[in-house]
This record gives sequence, C-alpha cells and structure tokens, in this order.
Amino acid sequence: MTPRPTREDKFSFGLWTVGWQARDLFGEATRPVLAAVEAVHKLAEIGAYGITFHDDDLIPPGSSSSSSERQRIIEEFKAALAETGLEVPMVTTNLFGDPVFKDGGFTSNDRSVRRYAVRKVMRNMDLAAELGAQIYVFWGGREGSEVDFAKDVRAALDRYREAIDLLAQYSIDRGYGMRFAIEPKPNEPRGDILLPSIGHALAFINQLEHKDMVGINPETGHEQMATLNYTHGIAQALWEGKLFHIDLNGQKGPRYDQDQVFGYGDLIQAFSTVDLLENGAPGGGPVYDGDRHFDYKPLRTEDMDGVWASARANMELYLTLRERARAFRADPEVQEALTAAGVAELSRPTLDEGETHEKLMSDRGAFEDYDVEAARTKGYGFAELQRLAMEHLLAVR
Ligand code: GCO
Ligand code: MN
Ligand code: MN
Repeated sequence: MTPRPTREDKFSFGLWTVGWQARDLFGEATRPVLAAVEAVHKLAEIGAYGITFHDDDLIPPGSSSSSSERQRIIEEFKAALAETGLEVPMVTTNLFGDPVFKDGGFTSNDRSVRRYAVRKVMRNMDLAAELGAQIYVFWGGREGSEVDFAKDVRAALDRYREAIDLLAQYSIDRGYGMRFAIEPKPNEPRGDILLPSIGHALAFINQLEHKDMVGINPETGHEQMATLNYTHGIAQALWEGKLFHIDLNGQKGPRYDQDQVFGYGDLIQAFSTVDLLENGAPGGGPVYDGDRHFDYKPLRTEDMDGVWASARANMELYLTLRERARAFRADPEVQEALTAAGVAELSRPTLDEGETHEKLMSDRGAFEDYDVEAARTKGYGFAELQRLAMEHLLAVR
C-alpha cells in the first residue's frame, strides 16, 4: 500500500516548484499562475508540512517596501498559513532573475549591484523573520562566470564572505536567530558557479566570521550533475554539523539541472540518502531533523492535476524508501551481513585509548608480524550487502 504523508513527516515544497509555469529556454509557459494562497491550501491538503519561497515568488518583483499591494499579499498569505497550519521553515532570495543580477548579486563586478543585492536580502529577511522562518537559504546561481579572465575568483570570494558576514550580523542585531544555508551548484545558469559543490561550500564556511550560524542546503541533482555522490556529501555535512537544510530531487547523470521528482534518476542513491536521513550512521553521530524539502520542477507536459500528482510522488516515494530502509535495517540477515562486512568496526578508533605513535611502533602485530597476505586475500562481503539492499529496495524480500 502506498504510504500517505502527514505533517509529522515534515515535507515542504518551494512555492516556485508547484508554482512553476514551465517556461523554459525553448518555450513559453504551459500552465497558469498558481496563487500562493492556493498553493498553501493544496499543499496542506496533500499532507505537506511547510512551504518556502523566494521574495519574488510571493511578491511581484519591483514592489516598493511600503506598497499596499505588498502588504495585502503578505496578509493573505499569513491568513492561509494560519488557516491550514502550514509552516514556513525556510525563505530565500531571488538574486538571479532580474537582469540587474546578470553578473551575480554578492559578487558582481559592479559594486552598486552588490549593495542592492544585500539590501534585497535584508528586506526579505525581515519578512522571513515575521513568518517564523528559522533557515535562510543562499543559492548563488548567478555568482560565477563564463569567462575566466573576467572574474577575480579570490576577490569574488572576499565579497561573498563580506555579504554573508554582514547579513549574519544583521540577523544577530535584529534578534532573528536565523541559521543560513548555502546551496552549492556546479553550473547553470552561469557557465561556472562559485561554491560549486558541497565540499567547496563547507570550506568557504570555515572562512566566515559567524561560521557557527552558517551551514549548507545541498540539492541531490546539483551534486549528481557534477557526478558526485550525494549521500556521501550530506554525510560529510552531518559530520561537520553543517546539514542545516536539504533540497531533495532527482537527476539523471551529468546533464542540465533536471529537478525531477525525488528518486527519479539514481534510485539506488535515493535509497541510501533516505536511509542516512532516517536511520543515521551505523556508528551513531548527528542526524538531520529539519524539514524534508523538495526542490523539483513538475514536467512541462502536465496540467495542474499532473503538478499535484508529482508533488505527491515526491512524498510517497520518500516514505516508501523510508519503509524499505527500516525493513532493511531490521532484517536479521542484513544485520549479519553488516557485521560480516565490518561496517560498525570502522567506528572503532585505529589506535587504542592513550596509544601513541611510539606504542604503535612497538606493536609487532601491526606491522612486522602482520599477516598481510590474509588481509590481501580476504573478501569484505560488500557484494552480499548490496544484493540485500537491492532486494529490499525492490521489495522482493
Ligand atoms: C536550482 C536551485 C534553485 C534554488 C532555489 C533557492 O534548481 O538551480 O535549486 O531552485 O534551490 O532557487 O534559492
Ligand atoms: Mn536544481
Ligand atoms: Mn535547490
């Protein structure tokens, strides 16, 4: 039976996902505008917990801060949230659509654009705080270049850091208590985007003034566009205490950013992703407890019924994988296979407590008398584990 999502499952969607009108590089919109209020009601109805948005998804770009139109939209949105109980766990800024950002926001060569970008974020942070959002996402889609000679990457990173430091200070001074999540992506819309992978973003965060309040928002497809392992990436972010938010979707290999439904693409990796998010690492360690956020694009071929069918598909597939992952972990044969594969052994430190390199040096069993040949020829049992995982994924066990 297909599992049905409930609020406790903490699923959330960007307003720009179900609201995407399917305008692409080659063609016009195929769907009508979806009113934010309607999106709130519909998402609540199908079992979601939250909705997220860019400033310009909710309020038409260019509206002045004091306009009555802006106020009306916000009030109506808030009323819909109150009526449905839907939360706004995360908010973000559009620093890519307006032509003013053609060379980026925080890292444009034009200083006046950088100042404008920071102000645009500050204004939207005020709204995010008003709506109770705890996470603020930074996706720098236009921060990058096509021409290596046109961008001083070191200076760009200085400016990126300056902007994030400044906005962190803004959150602190205003008492917003937000946490920032940087979203890496290798390319598209820029030829090359700054902070292209989880690893780049994590290294960048270490250079920040308020690094404790900054983590990442990794997207499945973005790592996979770069042929990287998403499950490994989020595991490293968890290890560093930096998995602040998550964008789940599907991607078929290193193509353009497909933003498919979660699991459509590398289903085996989606399985290990859910297993990690739900069951944690075998050796314990930090787990993710934020909303399960889907950042996908409903197919251009679909009408609104197809949009909601695909929104459901994200949640249902996640829940199915969660069930499979639980069954996998609970299966005695799997536990045996995990033991045989020495998976938990890796949590044991390589040296004994208090052991020094001198002591290691004097341990003949570790080197001089070590049976290298036995270690060379033994099998690790990973194939059996993979076989069992596939059987659970396909529900043939
Ligand atoms: C993409 C990105 C964007 C961002 C979103 C948040 O698909 O290229 O994921 O969708 O997540 O704009 O800023
Ligand atoms: Mn994407
Ligand atoms: Mn995303």
